[in-house]
Amino acid sequence: MIDLCLKNCNLVPEKDGCSIGIDNGKIVSITKIPPKSEKVIDIKGKPVLPGLIDSHVHFRDPGLTYKEDFKTGSHAAANGGFTTVMDMPNTIPPTVTKKAFLEKIKIAGKKSIVDFALHAGVNDLDQIRPIAKLKPASFKIFMDLVDNSFLMEVFEEISKLSQKYTISVHAEDKNITNYCTEHEKSGSNLNPIIYAKARPPISEVVALSAAIALSRFYNQKIHICHVSTKNSIELIDIVKNKGDQITSEITPHHMFLDDSYLDKYGNFVKTNPPLRDNENKLDISHLKSIDVIGTDHAPHTLEEKEKNVWEAPPGIPSLETTLPMLLNEINKDKMSFGDIKRLLCENPARIFNLKNKGRIAEGMDADFVIIDIKKEYVINPDDFKTKAKYSPFEGFNVKGMPVMTIVRGNIVMDEGEVFENKGKFVYEET
Ligand code: DOR
Ligand code: ZN
Ligand code: ZN
Repeated sequence: MIDLCLKNCNLVPEKDGCSIGIDNGKIVSITKIPPKSEKVIDIKGKPVLPGLIDSHVHFRDPGLTYKEDFKTGSHAAANGGFTTVMDMPNTIPPTVTKKAFLEKIKIAGKKSIVDFALHAGVNDLDQIRPIAKLKPASFKIFMDLVDNSFLMEVFEEISKLSQKYTISVHAEDKNITNYCTEHEKSGSNLNPIIYAKARPPISEVVALSAAIALSRFYNQKIHICHVSTKNSIELIDIVKNKGDQITSEITPHHMFLDDSYLDKYGNFVKTNPPLRDNENKLDISHLKSIDVIGTDHAPHTLEEKEKNVWEAPPGIPSLETTLPMLLNEINKDKMSFGDIKRLLCENPARIFNLKNKGRIAEGMDADFVIIDIKKEYVINPDDFKTKAKYSPFEGFNVKGMPVMTIVRGNIVMDEGEVFENKGKFVYEET
């Protein structure tokens, strides 16, 4: 007898009335007749998606746990329908050494209720080889913080490794952002809207061009984090050719919000890259050129966000608003469940090599998010599990909510209540 059966599932878009058999955390059958099992959950015809994979979160653990930690971050993930998260390396210490990488696996293994992967950072070229052995999701470079000469060395070093690794880039040019930031700082204007001027669209396009050139020269895969301008998409459309050589990610805030929100919400929507004006910003129609939706969940405290435009840290918490916002678009016929599967399940699993994730099929991990597509909700940060209880989407009326999240057969969220579970490093051999 198997462990669990989810009966009466709607495997959107095409398969209604299915039963999913689960044993030992894996999907063992998909049938019309429910298999015999220890436990049965009646899904009552609701849409069932593969658990969402977030390619881009900042859980701040270790070192900045007053903003978030792997427990609260993973609770937010579960509440938002995510079953796997990929954590960014800008913690304290940064995840740039073998020691720090192993330490973070240990911390996350103790605290996380969802499965996790880790992006490695690069400070020291000599650490690339030892970290590579530990299976980072990618090597992440913040181009706004390093010179292109260093980036070139990173590409060269990674190209010498026997296995292929993706290089994820935060594409904003260091010289241009520094120059424009100094220029804006020299004035006395402290209106948050000037932050958009301090990091203009051209800064992204210049960095993107450099990353593309290096990717081609060294024949390395790159993943462009949080693309924010139309010009970038035009460039990506031109150069994208075979396989996953160049892949790209968009955040919900760059898709749904423009720079007028800097006027409305001040530094609470300060983020890197900044929100763009209507001429440059992206919208849902650009998803066809994009491979992944990543939340860039970047929590900070209220006190930090209340500082002035130059002192408030950049970042927006998004794990618990992303799926409701997207389901709302499905209800408006602007998106489909297929888009969600492509952008938040199948593509991130393929690009970052998560072999057992991203699809509902026999042999895959039993990770699911169950949707109530008719449930209406007014976004309220008091309901968030993240430590960062604010959102530019506060007060938005949405239709469509995740109502249950399951990680390897274990319920981690049921109607907004989260439950303990032992999250696992996804590249661990099973
Ligand atoms: O807005 C941002 N916040 N952009 C980044 O690149 C870093 C992130 C953070 O860690 O807060
Ligand atoms: Zn970034
Ligand atoms: Zn980020």
